[in-house]
Amino acid sequence: MRKILVLGATGQIGSALKRDLIGREKVEFLNRKELDFKKIEAIEAKIKEFQPDIIINAAAYTNVDGAEDFREDAFQINSFAIDKLSKLVNAYGVVLVHFSTDYIFDGQKKSPYMETDTPNPLSVYGESKLEGEKFVEENCSKFFIIRTSGVISKNEDNFISKIKKFSEKQNKLSVINDQITSINFSEYISRSTATMLKKIDDNIENESRWGIYHMSGDKAGSWFDFANYAQKLSKLNDPNSVFSKSIIESISSIEFNQKAKRPNYSFLSSDKLKKEFDLKLPNWEESIKEVIKENEKN
Ligand SMILES: NC(=O)c1ccc[n+]([C@@H]2O[C@H](COP(=O)([O-])OP(=O)(O)OC[C@H]3O[C@@H](n4cnc5c(N)ncnc54)[C@H](OP(=O)(O)O)[C@@H]3O)[C@@H](O)[C@H]2O)c1
Repeated sequence: MRKILVLGATGQIGSALKRDLIGREKVEFLNRKELDFKKIEAIEAKIKEFQPDIIINAAAYTNVDGAEDFREDAFQINSFAIDKLSKLVNAYGVVLVHFSTDYIFDGQKKSPYMETDTPNPLSVYGESKLEGEKFVEENCSKFFIIRTSGVISKNEDNFISKIKKFSEKQNKLSVINDQITSINFSEYISRSTATMLKKIDDNIENESRWGIYHMSGDKAGSWFDFANYAQKLSKLNDPNSVFSKSIIESISSIEFNQKAKRPNYSFLSSDKLKKEFDLKLPNWEESIKEVIKENEKN
């Protein structure tokens, strides 16, 4: 059994990994208090003590608009810490699994983005994540960079929880219709990542599939599509809820005026993941169903 150290234990993907890995793998999780990425060097003592075979980094500065004002924080956590982390990980012969984002692309393409497409981020968040990726590529010999998009979960801070919360304050929701991407349930990402790791387990020393992978369901949509579908499910399950009764209005990115610029198209092709690991994530409709189902349990 391999030893896995997971960073970012409290996040959406980190929490999902807890559910997937505990009990199945020899695993340890670190939250921000236990390892602050602003003092990432402290991980060396943990590597020496726990001797992990694999480190999964699910920690990041993920506030896309916030990064425009807090550029230094975004770069410190998403980029400079990753430079140091990846050098240490490589020095100890550990495999690094690092998550990244569709926001490293500029959206000029009109067909699904492949791993070989050239990034050109439009936001500080995207820039900081791309720089982090480059450090992993430069510093590590055994790594997976997993780019995903629109992570949703039963945690509070994601698109579905936000639109539901907004509907409690105002009965009309304006949702962007011209940013085409996909959203993905955190547990689908966690499960697929765990399966990738299982598939390299037998022959890690001779593994040749290292590199960048896109990980998303195979259907694209806009935030307006996602909101409408979530409301459709809500109307079936709970027709009298404030969210079911709210009005969802479509709005363009220009009218909405977000602080950080996002790509108008950033849907990721996951063909490489299918080809190399025979893995395919369910599409965004399934992801939304899972989150609505999870919310109802609480
Ligand atoms: N969310 C999305 O829509 C999305 C889309 C595409 C790609 N991704 C990528 O997927 C990965 C995971 O995203 P997620 O949605 O699971 O993120 P998340 O829910 O925002 O969680 C981020 C995690 O990073 C931790 N963190 C933040 N600053 C830290 C610091 N200074 N030191 C140590 N830990 C710190 C947070 O700890 P606290 O709980 O203490 O704050 C939290 O555990 C990231 O690489 C992200 O870029 C996310």
